[in-house]
Formats: sequence, C-alpha cells, structure tokens
Amino acid sequence: MVLKLVAFLLVSILFACSNELDKKNTIPQETPAQKSANLFILYCASCHGEDGKLGSSGAKDLSKSTLSIAEINEILANGKNAMPPMNELLGTKENQELVVNHVLSLRK
Ligand code: HEC
Repeated sequence: MVLKLVAFLLVSILFACSNELDKKNTIPQETPAQKSANLFILYCASCHGEDGKLGSSGAKDLSKSTLSIAEINEILANGKNAMPPMNELLGTKENQELVVNHVLSLRK
C-alpha cells in the first residue's frame, strides 16, 4: 500500500514537472520592439555592440549616426567598406524595417 502511494506521488511529480517544461517550451509572443532588438543582437551586435557603440572591425557608432532611413536601407542592401550587405541575412522586408527601427532607437 505504502509502495503504491509512493509510486503515485512520484508519477504525479513527474507529470507536474513535464507540464512545467511544456510551458517553458512554448515560444513567447515577442513585441515588435523586442523582435527588432533580437534581430539587431543576432546580426549586427557582433560589430556594432548591443548599444551600437562597440565599433568592432571599424563599425560606426550607431548612437551617433545621423543617417536617414533611406541611407540606412542603402547600407543594409549594399554594405559599405567592411560592413557586408545584410538584407539577405535579414530575410524579409519586415525584418529590415524592424532592424532599422532599432538602429534609430539607439540614438540618444
Ligand atoms: C562585419 C561587421 C558588421 C556587421 C555584422 C554589421 N555592420 Fe554596420 N557597419 C560596419 C562597418 C565597418 C561600418 C562602417 C562603414 C564605413 O562607413 O566605412 C558600418 C556602418 C553601419 C551604418 C552606418 C553608420 C553611419 O553613420 O555611417 C549603419 C546604419 C549600420 N552599419 C547598420 C548595421 C546594421 C543594422 C547591421 C545588422 C543588420 C549591421 N550594421 C551589421 C560593420 C558591420
């Protein structure tokens, strides 16, 4: 009887834990701002840094950049000097727009 009880408790605990895991595995909904930031961290931060100021491989400080949206799009499409073109990596027009929004948000 005690053994059955222990077995029942163990199964219950395992079941509860697996439910917790399921919850963590569901992808949380990102806000557009979070998505922009994540794209930037993924594709741009290696050279520009999360705050845009890193300047690795001669990358410009994005917090001080004064380029227009059109000029940023031009650089994303064609690259510039040590910066490779990024649009193919970003994949969609939506991602490009999100990342440009993030670049603008780095200016203070
Ligand atoms: C391999 C390193 C590297 C990566 C990755 C990179 N950049 Fe750059 N970026 C540079 C360099 C180097 C420059 C300076 C180009 C120049 O003017 O000579 C630059 C310049 C820029 C500029 C122009 C700033 C100004 O005021 O002149 C923008 C905007 C920019 N990057 C945005 C991005 C974005 C957005 C991403 C990600 C999608 C990105 N970069 C990824 C290296 C990188």
